[in-house]
Amino acid sequence: MRRGAFAVPPGIYLDGNSLGLMPLVTRDLLERRLGEWSHEAALGWESWFGLAESLSPSIARLVGAGAHEVVATGSITSNLHSLLATLYRPEGEKRTVVATALDFPTDLYALRAWTDRLGGTLRLVPSRDGHTLHGDDLRAAMTPDVALVLLPTVLYRSGQRLDIPGLTAAAHAAGAVIGWDAAHSIGAMPHALHDSGADFAVWCHYKYVNAGPGAPGGLYLHERWHHLTPGLPGWWGNDKTTQFEMTTGYRKAPGAGAYQTGTPSILALTALQGALGIFDGLNLAEVRERSLALTDHLIAQVDRHTPELQVVTPRSHDERGGHVSLAHPEARELSRALRTLGVVPDYREPDILRLAPVALYNTEAEIDEVVRLLRTLLDSGEHRRTLTPASPVT
Ligand SMILES: Cc1ncc(COP(=O)(O)O)c(C=O)c1O
Repeated sequence: MRRGAFAVPPGIYLDGNSLGLMPLVTRDLLERRLGEWSHEAALGWESWFGLAESLSPSIARLVGAGAHEVVATGSITSNLHSLLATLYRPEGEKRTVVATALDFPTDLYALRAWTDRLGGTLRLVPSRDGHTLHGDDLRAAMTPDVALVLLPTVLYRSGQRLDIPGLTAAAHAAGAVIGWDAAHSIGAMPHALHDSGADFAVWCHYKYVNAGPGAPGGLYLHERWHHLTPGLPGWWGNDKTTQFEMTTGYRKAPGAGAYQTGTPSILALTALQGALGIFDGLNLAEVRERSLALTDHLIAQVDRHTPELQVVTPRSHDERGGHVSLAHPEARELSRALRTLGVVPDYREPDILRLAPVALYNTEAEIDEVVRLLRTLLDSGEHRRTLTPASPVT
């Protein structure tokens, strides 16, 4: 859809759900920002001061929320801690937190820290098949003792997409607050977080949003919670109009902006600004349509040419995120071998090859070539002889 807007590395890149490609405009914006720093030094803060807030309308559009309900800050992990410090309020018997056995580990580390600290229990919904979650199991876990639920919008390993409005309603019916980790859905599909009634969400901008390695994260907090004081306050979440009065009392900013803590990286926010500019010009329903067309094509090619690779991503569009996960006992070796052939896939322990054909820059021809290479490797066994170590990717 926008391939020409990106720096596309040589070979075939199918790892945009780990780190999205660099938008060409980002280099220009960063150079301009460096120019401001070199010429204006501290005076640059006059224009940089409100940079995070200026990005909120574009971010809000990606997640389906009001601009006052989102902010670019922190990371998924730090934002989760900040929101748990605010919204996890165990009382009496209502102290259980529900998450899942398939969650990204950092989410579980954060949740367990808060249940341990405040005397709650972490309940992990198991998977029936090791790859996906069943809606009935998720709903059954939302018993009256549950204070808070955290779920992924799209599971990072299998690419299963969960039903945000339905599960949000189920959590609310149990009297629980519910939040979402939207790392694998933002930028790949439209969202309607506010209308779903979800209480909070966290996500990163380095995957499908293409804001660069270590890009600032994002958070959403439904306006019904804006009266609360953040559990982990910092001066950058102070009301902007009084921040530099430097008083001893914290006066929280209105809205989600209050969940900023310390001085943001202006360079990193600038890279996010470049990436968001691309999405401003895109219809998100069309992004999703293109993403589904690409994953449909990939699944069809795998079924036809490499059926020994088991597609563990749900086939129904409603339940599919932006990537396709293939289980195979030699997935690690296949992933390494693909890299030596100029293809960048992604591998997840113990046996998952993740391929993310991204709507904005991947093509059917690239998918065909990768499946052809996989067939060749499986036939020749060459991948078993490839020794190049896989490098860490998030
Ligand atoms: C679902 C999910 N949650 C969390 C993270 C990591 O969070 P952070 O941005 O704090 O590093 C990732 C990273 O890939 C992820 O896929």
